Amino acid sequence: MKALVLSGGKGTRLRPITNSFAKQLIPVANKPILFYVLEDIAAAGIKDVGIVVGETKNLIKEAVGSGKRWGINVTYIEQDAPLGLAHAVKIAEPFIGDEPFIMYLGDNLLKGGIKSFVDEYGNKREDIVILLTEVDHPEQFGVAVLDDRGKIKGLVEKPARFISNKALVGIYIFNQKIFPAVNSIKPSWRGELEITDAIQQVIDQGGRVEPFVIKGWWKDTGKKEDVLEANRLILEDLQPLNRGEVDSRSRVSGRVNIGRGTHIKNSVIEGPVIIDNNCLIEDSYLGPYTSIGEGVQIINSEVEQSIVMEKTIIIDITVRIANSLVGRDTRIKSRQGRPGIHELLLGDQSSLELYE
Ligand code: TTP
Repeated sequence: MKALVLSGGKGTRLRPITNSFAKQLIPVANKPILFYVLEDIAAAGIKDVGIVVGETKNLIKEAVGSGKRWGINVTYIEQDAPLGLAHAVKIAEPFIGDEPFIMYLGDNLLKGGIKSFVDEYGNKREDIVILLTEVDHPEQFGVAVLDDRGKIKGLVEKPARFISNKALVGIYIFNQKIFPAVNSIKPSWRGELEITDAIQQVIDQGGRVEPFVIKGWWKDTGKKEDVLEANRLILEDLQPLNRGEVDSRSRVSGRVNIGRGTHIKNSVIEGPVIIDNNCLIEDSYLGPYTSIGEGVQIINSEVEQSIVMEKTIIIDITVRIANSLVGRDTRIKSRQGRPGIHELLLGDQSSLELYE
């Protein structure tokens, strides 16, 4: 079995971070989302992995390399434009050849990985196996409708009326029957070749399409709230470790993981919090569910429930920063002496919410 990881796309819902960065490389608990995906694939015993890349291909290639780190061989498949998930499958056909494959969206996180799924279905004869999860608000998801034998009868995108609470997780096993389908479907109203249309075609032609309902949590990190929620879920299992230096005026409580060369001075840290290498946290408060990237400086400021990416500097922000995703090399500073103004240099499609 091979694996196909989708790491192209536009990432419009995560602008401006995705204007200059790949959403699959956004760090969750200080590790790129895509790395969790590759770890899952390696743990399932799959060696040949194709990664579909788009505009951010150089960043992805630089971060992942040959895949040796995970004991896998990575082949990069370049998609000229983000024309849909089924389009990504279509261009991957030469890489896949005649093996079955697991398709894993590169911005999805799954508690517990895919090993049990691959072990159970890897050698069976189904044409498609779809990972499903029960959700409270099926109207916000693509859902699968099952027949009385438990086979998948059909897929419905964001159903207005209740027909099923089983939402599609972005992970599937396909065999070669998917290729004629992705080659014959037409683009949807949003101009993309939809994987759900291709799957529906396989169902309509009598293909065997099985569900696999997962128990643990699953997160599609398409929006800021989802990235922060994924960060919270991963930090729930954080192992405390201190490889940095915490001075005697600081108070660290709960599960806190501090990297090498990081200094905590006169600060309060309430875990779960992860702080990468070479950071400075001084006269500050870091609250639960916060991930601080490498080389970040937080001085005389308060941050909680947030991800702060590498090399960012936050100074004198005493109104707490919360529920925030702050990009790399960003500077947030409060200035004395000019009351009543905010001085900004924000990228296109930034979002700044000020509570006064
Ligand atoms: P989506 O989140 O559905 O799409 P997107 O990344 O373009 O984001 P947005 O809707 O905010 O604009 O994509 C799911 C995953 O599949 C993600 O990792 C990107 C990848 N993808 C491709 O590789 N090629 C494609 O053509 C598309 C649409 C997505």
